[in-house]
Amino acid sequence: MLKKKHLAALASVALLAAIPACGSDEGTGSSSSSGAASGGDGKLTMGFAQVGAESGWRTANTTSIQDSAKESDVDLKFSDAQQKQENQIKAIRSYIQQKVDVIAFSPVIESGWDAVLNEAKRAKIPVILTDRAVDSKDTSLYKSFLGSDFVKEGNKAGEWAVKEFADAKEVNIAELQGTTGSAPATDRKQGFTDVISKDPKFKITQSQTGEFTRAKGKEVMEAFLKSGKPIDLLFAHNDDMALGAIEAIEGAGKVPGKDIKIVSIDAVKDGMQALADGKINYIIECSPLLGPQLMDLAKKVTAGEEVPARIETEEGEFDQAQAKEALPTRQY
Ligand code: AHR
Repeated sequence: MLKKKHLAALASVALLAAIPACGSDEGTGSSSSSGAASGGDGKLTMGFAQVGAESGWRTANTTSIQDSAKESDVDLKFSDAQQKQENQIKAIRSYIQQKVDVIAFSPVIESGWDAVLNEAKRAKIPVILTDRAVDSKDTSLYKSFLGSDFVKEGNKAGEWAVKEFADAKEVNIAELQGTTGSAPATDRKQGFTDVISKDPKFKITQSQTGEFTRAKGKEVMEAFLKSGKPIDLLFAHNDDMALGAIEAIEGAGKVPGKDIKIVSIDAVKDGMQALADGKINYIIECSPLLGPQLMDLAKKVTAGEEVPARIETEEGEFDQAQAKEALPTRQY
């Protein structure tokens, strides 16, 4: 994909929104532990624009970032964009205005970031992408991208499906996609399709966004079931949507994990529990514990050190037996 190619390079004010330097920012849910950015206390100040609180993964990611900031003595200014790009842009502009030392964010969707990233560049504030990528051609707009390889995750889900349905003649697949236009939704779909499309017996017969939420996952799965089309396998782009779909499947009198097999991505505790209970068949891990690496990167970047343009998170895979084993010590 285009953005992947452009991630390889590494190069390295408009002040629009008048947002308070501390306390709560209505609309973006901002909060901060201190008053002035780059304040006199010598602490590194980071402005972090989070996607939202749409999933168990996101909640764990927020906790990881907030805890790591405290442990690393970083003054964190945090905002929750409620899955809206305009809120993230507003938050980033407020961080520029506050002259933070570094801006980090997980872009809700891939496109439309060049203007605000150029504003940060002009203000000489380094930007670090975490979790999700942007499709900007100008890679000098950010210093590094820390996060998972979503295409690989989709590949792994597809590879599991190929093994699981080795003896089947035809496999009808329903797909619950993540947020439309987001890197994980686009890349997981691509990675999964690349693998299953090698065998024409696999057909994605129904596919729609469930916006990475449990409620929407349930709603869309109900519609899929009502369509009357056969479903052998559900590919859910995250555990939360799979969990919502399980409710819909049970509501329709079917047995999740048996009548309809399920593969999903994340491996959050609730997903792992459903896997251990036999309601999900396989989960590809996507680690949200990015906080420690992010703080480390921020310190290096603000000290003018060179950092890798791409840092990929390590991830595992779980079947039902492995989920049972991993659950007691699962952190998130
Ligand atoms: O960007 C990571 C994805 O976003 C997670 O897989 C999903 O649960 C979250 O909402």
